[in-house]
Amino acid sequence: MTTKKQLTRKRKTPSKSIASKSIASKSIASKSIASKSIAVIGAGNLGSAIARGIVRAGLRRAPEVLLTRRHPEELAELRAQGHPVGRDNAKFASAARIVILAVQPKHTARVLAELAPVLDPKRHILVSTLTGVSIEGLRRHVGSEVPVVRVMPNLGIQTLNSMTCLARDAPSEPAFSEVEALFAGLGETVRIEEANMGAATALCACGIAFFLRAIRAAAQGGIQIGFHAEEAIRMAAQTAKGAAELLLVNRSHPETEIDQVTTPNGCTIAGLNEMENHGFSSALVRGLVVSAQRAGALDPSRDRGGS
Ligand SMILES: NC(=O)c1ccc[n+]([C@@H]2O[C@H](COP(=O)([O-])OP(=O)(O)OC[C@H]3O[C@@H](n4cnc5c(N)ncnc54)[C@H](OP(=O)(O)O)[C@@H]3O)[C@@H](O)[C@H]2O)c1
Repeated sequence: MTTKKQLTRKRKTPSKSIASKSIASKSIASKSIASKSIAVIGAGNLGSAIARGIVRAGLRRAPEVLLTRRHPEELAELRAQGHPVGRDNAKFASAARIVILAVQPKHTARVLAELAPVLDPKRHILVSTLTGVSIEGLRRHVGSEVPVVRVMPNLGIQTLNSMTCLARDAPSEPAFSEVEALFAGLGETVRIEEANMGAATALCACGIAFFLRAIRAAAQGGIQIGFHAEEAIRMAAQTAKGAAELLLVNRSHPETEIDQVTTPNGCTIAGLNEMENHGFSSALVRGLVVSAQRAGALDPSRDRGGS
C-alpha cells in the first residue's frame, strides 16, 4: 500500500529550469548576509520545518536561510518564499555561518566529504540533527577544530513548539550559546549528555508521532461516539494541547491533574481503567524503549540502514 509519506515524496524528473536558477549566486555571495546566514543541508521533512520555524520566529529572513537537497525542485514553495535553494552543499555552506546538517544518517559520509573542505573553524558552526551519529563520528570527517553541536529537535519546530535537546563537546563550548539561542527561539531547549541522545530521539523526536497517534486514536473513538472526523480530530487535538499546557504552566505531575478530572465512580476513571487494562501506559513505555534502542543502532558506521 502506498503511504501518504511515499505519495508526497514521489517526484518528477528534475526540472532544468528550476535546477539552473535554483539559487541566485548573488544572493549567497553577499558577505553581510553570509555573516548571519544559516544553511540547511538536506532540507527534507525536518530541514524544511526548521527553515519555516526560523522565518516564522523572525530569527532570520527567508533569503538568509539557504536550503539544499538532491531534488531542489521539491522545494519550490520555500523557494517562492525567498529561500535560496539548490544542490551545491559546499557552496551553500561556505556562504553561511551556521550549517545545519539534516540528511539521513546513511548520507553522512558523502555530505561531510563535500562540506569538510569549506568549513572554516573561525567562521562556521556545524549543527547536526542526525540520529545516531556522534560528535566524534562527525569530527572524523570535519576535524577537531570546527565547532560541532548535536541537536535533537522535533517537527514542532515548524510552529515554534519544538523540544530541542542539545549536546556539545569541549571545543564547541564557545559556539554553543549561539546555537542554543537559535533553538530557544524555536521552542524549548534542554542541554543533555550526548550519551542520552538516543533516549532524547525516542522521547522528543519520535514522540511527536507517538502523541499524534494517540490523538488519532482519540479521534477515532470520538467518531464512534458521534462526531464527524474533522471535528473529532480538532476536539482531540485541542484537548491534548490543553492537557500538555496544564503540565507546562503548572509544572505539575500528570496524576495531580488527572485527580481533578476523576470523580469517584465517574466516567473518567472508568475509561482510564479500561485503557490501562488494554495496556495503554505499557504500550507507550515499550514503544519508547524500542525506539531508543533503534536510535542508538542508527550510527552508519555500525549499521548501513536508514531511520
Ligand atoms: N523528521 C524528524 O522529525 C526528525 C527529528 C529529529 C531528527 N531527525 C533527523 O534529521 C535527519 C533528517 O530527517 P528527515 O526526516 O527530515 O529526513 P528526510 O525527509 O529524508 O530529509 C533528508 C533530506 O536530505 C536530502 N539529501 C540526501 N542526500 C543529500 C545530499 N547528498 N545533499 C543534500 N541533501 C541531501 C534529501 O533530499 P532528496 O529527498 O531531494 O533526495 C532529503 O530531502 C535525519 O538524520 C533524522 O534522523 C529527524
